[in-house]
Amino acid sequence: MVVVKTIKEVRDTVKQWRKEGLTVGFVPTMGYLHEGHQSLIRAAGENDRVVVSIFLNPMQFGPTEDLATYPKDIERDKQKCLEAGADLIFAPEVSEMYEDNFQSYVDMNLLTEELCGLTRPCHFRGVCTVVTKLFNIVKPDKAYFGKKDAQQLAVIKRMVADLNMDIEIVGCPIIREEDGLAKSSRNTYLNADERKAALVLSKAVKKAEELTENGVRNSAEIISAMTSIVEAEPLAKIDYIKIVSLDTMQQISSTEGGALIAMAVYIGKTRLIDNFFYEGE
Ligand code: PAJ
Repeated sequence: MVVVKTIKEVRDTVKQWRKEGLTVGFVPTMGYLHEGHQSLIRAAGENDRVVVSIFLNPMQFGPTEDLATYPKDIERDKQKCLEAGADLIFAPEVSEMYEDNFQSYVDMNLLTEELCGLTRPCHFRGVCTVVTKLFNIVKPDKAYFGKKDAQQLAVIKRMVADLNMDIEIVGCPIIREEDGLAKSSRNTYLNADERKAALVLSKAVKKAEELTENGVRNSAEIISAMTSIVEAEPLAKIDYIKIVSLDTMQQISSTEGGALIAMAVYIGKTRLIDNFFYEGE
């Protein structure tokens, strides 16, 4: 496994692989890797070669968000990538990705308006811009994204279709801790009490799954049951619990035919997300 910091080194390596007729899978990350990221790297192993990017992208963080405190450990990340079968890590400095007079952005309407887009207004512009740049640098055949960031996955799929990017987007299942908490680099912010309190997210998602299995399709009923679970926990504060259309990410009153049931909750100061995709019948 090779670790490089420049765009040129990635391009040279990938060009060589292409000459050899090899296929390339790509997993973009912001580092502090866990088994969720590793599951994407393993899935990307269906290609001949796997590239992982580790780049804490300042453009997708708002001014009051956790860019400065976001956990970092590149040595640990290298180990996790190696274990999961990556061939190349691209870990650029901010200056390598954004020149001083950087001016171009990729933005999206509608799908970015609800859910995380509502409380994080510039977030998806930062995500779309950096992912486009990374796609242009790596030029993979397939790229792997987690369903944990369900809105991000929908946005990337829309972007690739809208802008005719010749890359297949693969969505991968949410990896959870044994007690149900969705794995996240941000879980490291939680103290012992908060870690226990954070279980309200997966409990609420489970409730939504159960209700759906029992035939409940009314969004308000599902949201109300989830809200009661979260509100019973004093350390938890709801950012949103919403049910949206899989295509538009706009709120819908019934899950009939498929829906994304998504939530963001503050546990103390840490904002965590979880969700459940109901594919419909
Ligand atoms: P990051 O939060 O590091 O996540 C990288 C990828 O790992 C995303 O596709 C995310 O959905 C996936 N992931 C995180 N936790 C997961 C879990 N528990 N189970 C399955 N997959 C999980 O998402 C980003 O970085 C950035 O926005 C990025 C796309 C890299 C652009 O900067």
